[in-house]
Amino acid sequence: MKIGIPAETLAGETRVAVTPETAKKLVAQGHVVIVQSGAGVSASVTDAAYEAAGARIVDAAEAFGAEIVLKVRAPSDAEAALLKPGAVVVGMLNPFDAAGLQRLAAAGAVGFALEAAPRTTRAQSMDVLSSQANIAGYKAVMIAADQYQRFFPMLMTAAGTVKAARVVILGVGVAGLQAIATAKRLGAVIEASDVRPSVKEQIESLGGKFIEVSYDTPEEKEAAVGVGGYAKPMPASWLARQQVEVAKRVALADIVISTALIPGRAAPTLITEEMVKSMKPGSVIVDIAAGKGADVNGGLTGGNCPLSEADKTVVKHGVTIVGETNLPARVAADASALYARNVLDFLKLVLPKEGGLKIDLEDDIVAACLVTRDGQVTRK
Ligand code: NAI
Repeated sequence: MKIGIPAETLAGETRVAVTPETAKKLVAQGHVVIVQSGAGVSASVTDAAYEAAGARIVDAAEAFGAEIVLKVRAPSDAEAALLKPGAVVVGMLNPFDAAGLQRLAAAGAVGFALEAAPRTTRAQSMDVLSSQANIAGYKAVMIAADQYQRFFPMLMTAAGTVKAARVVILGVGVAGLQAIATAKRLGAVIEASDVRPSVKEQIESLGGKFIEVSYDTPEEKEAAVGVGGYAKPMPASWLARQQVEVAKRVALADIVISTALIPGRAAPTLITEEMVKSMKPGSVIVDIAAGKGADVNGGLTGGNCPLSEADKTVVKHGVTIVGETNLPARVAADASALYARNVLDFLKLVLPKEGGLKIDLEDDIVAACLVTRDGQVTRK
């Protein structure tokens, strides 16, 4: 098959869907790999490195004109126009973006949105949400440490003792766990909250403390279990109790990193303006959910904190609030390396050794990721 890798054009997107490592493997499997000139440059991959891996360097039109197109982000209107009918597009196609899927369907593409893969053991090696959220959690702590005007670790020096930073993590999925691990390595004291009590042990094993909130009704207990590993919206009664506990910790915190998401819905508000006001001057919030919050100001602002502004760092009530929406892109080389391996593993399911394309809807991963086919949006 002819596999094309275009350069990403979305503002701030530095990642690339194939690295020389994965290009070499695809070539070894007998595919023709064509890479748009400069596609890897923001992730520190040169055209020469792709050529050394056996790929050919082409322009955008040729890369988009391949039988299989490997992307990081969903194609734009202009990019979709370059696709050949029946072309397979694999990427983070945003399964909740109805307009984007419609665009892909209209282009006649067979679209596979990797974010839609189930959270199962077999799907782990192609789990783009995990590989990228892990990076976001790490980078959030790095950015917080950079913005914060004090140390993270407790230090005893001849000039006096410095206290350890207090870090509160809200939402302990993949990003939150990595944020705990990273902040711990820097010597911070960590507390964390999640709706799913199953994360308590994981938080403790990383040296953090779980912020306990009781589950008082059968409805609260049932919602806390989530679905497919993901959180479900919690009853207002539980959220109110959580807010009381979180507010106490946030008031004492130096750093808050929020990562709470519920797939397909607005991110929950966990850090209210009142809580921001209660924080010490110089404290830092990194809101990984920025831009995904409730529809404040046309959806451009808000995340787990309504004061967050997407892709901006703002100071409000003396607190620095970082609203970067694409943290993995700030770690472009490793983010691309892991993403490219996820893509390569997914391709094994649809590109059998015997050759050709196989769309086996009996395969739960293939069926879950398939979002467009034969001009239709197939995602339910
Ligand atoms: P996510 O990015 O969808 O959400 C982040 C976190 O926010 C979740 O832990 C969620 O419970 C939490 N959250 C939602 N509402 C909240 C609220 N009001 N207050 C506090 N926290 C709130 O989650 P992510 O990182 O995608 O992980 C989802 C699940 O999938 C986790 O259980 C993870 O362990 C599991 N997983 C399983 C894998 C596998 O078995 N193959 C691979 C990767 C993840």
